[in-house]
Amino acid sequence: MILLDGKKISEQIKEEITETVNQMKAKSEKVPHLAAILVGNDGASLTYVGSKVKSCERVGFLSTLIKLPSTTSETELLKKIDELNQDDNIDGFIVQLPLPEQIDTQKVIMAIDPDKDVDGFHPMNFGKMALDMTTFIPATPFGILELLERYNVETKGKHTVVIGRSHIVGRPMSILMGRKGFPGNSTVTLTHSHTKNIAQITTQADIIITALGVPNYLKAEMVKDDAVVIDVGITRVADENSPKGYRITGDVDFENVSKKASYITPVPGGVGPMTIAMLLKNTLLARERKLLKHKM
Ligand code: GUN
Repeated sequence: MILLDGKKISEQIKEEITETVNQMKAKSEKVPHLAAILVGNDGASLTYVGSKVKSCERVGFLSTLIKLPSTTSETELLKKIDELNQDDNIDGFIVQLPLPEQIDTQKVIMAIDPDKDVDGFHPMNFGKMALDMTTFIPATPFGILELLERYNVETKGKHTVVIGRSHIVGRPMSILMGRKGFPGNSTVTLTHSHTKNIAQITTQADIIITALGVPNYLKAEMVKDDAVVIDVGITRVADENSPKGYRITGDVDFENVSKKASYITPVPGGVGPMTIAMLLKNTLLARERKLLKHKM
């Protein structure tokens, strides 16, 4: 079994980005600037956005964190988005999801300038992704592709089973694994809450990507020998032995599944750190594409 070490690979990617930023600085170019909007004070979202901002500093990007109260109206949030769309100093920005229920998430995503949509959530960018056009690939799927690529995991002709059809992970992942090229050229099955006999499907899988948010869902009996297992789950489970009072648990019964798998991602230290690295990568791409546009 080979561990797909997202922590290590994400560090390499951050080093590469730092190097590019240093070259930008040497040429007196403006460095990439990422903004993040966080509405409310959900503990997990605070942690994720905090890590995103910290990682910006680490690679030499500028970052702006905009914290809005949980009572923020949709109109107020849309106004903030418009400000960021117009602000030439901001290369890319994200609105951390989930949003409070008084706010229509789709309306918010549609309001983001597609050229600054470094999450790749805008329908224009999502459509471009499905059509193999240059765009921003959502950070978590992008991170999974990068892990498969850097570990040279064969995907061509393989049966990839994706568990979960979220707009952020499962749906885009199912499209990306079936695209032409590497990683891709897989035969993809997208499973979800209405799928019958899921174990019958997962035991046929060469590659399983699980993005469900149900701790220890994927058991060893559901996995065939030598399968590649990618665990996107990051659920907080109460743990009084941990100083934080919780620990992060994936969708995969790692202890038993890892004995059968050829490659597997750990949780934590697998897909999670890759997501942040690829958000930085998308922000760098946003900056570079803006420069190209100005030169034309
Ligand atoms: N919530 C969970 N994952 C993500 C992500 O990748 N981007 C945003 N904006 N919100 C999220």
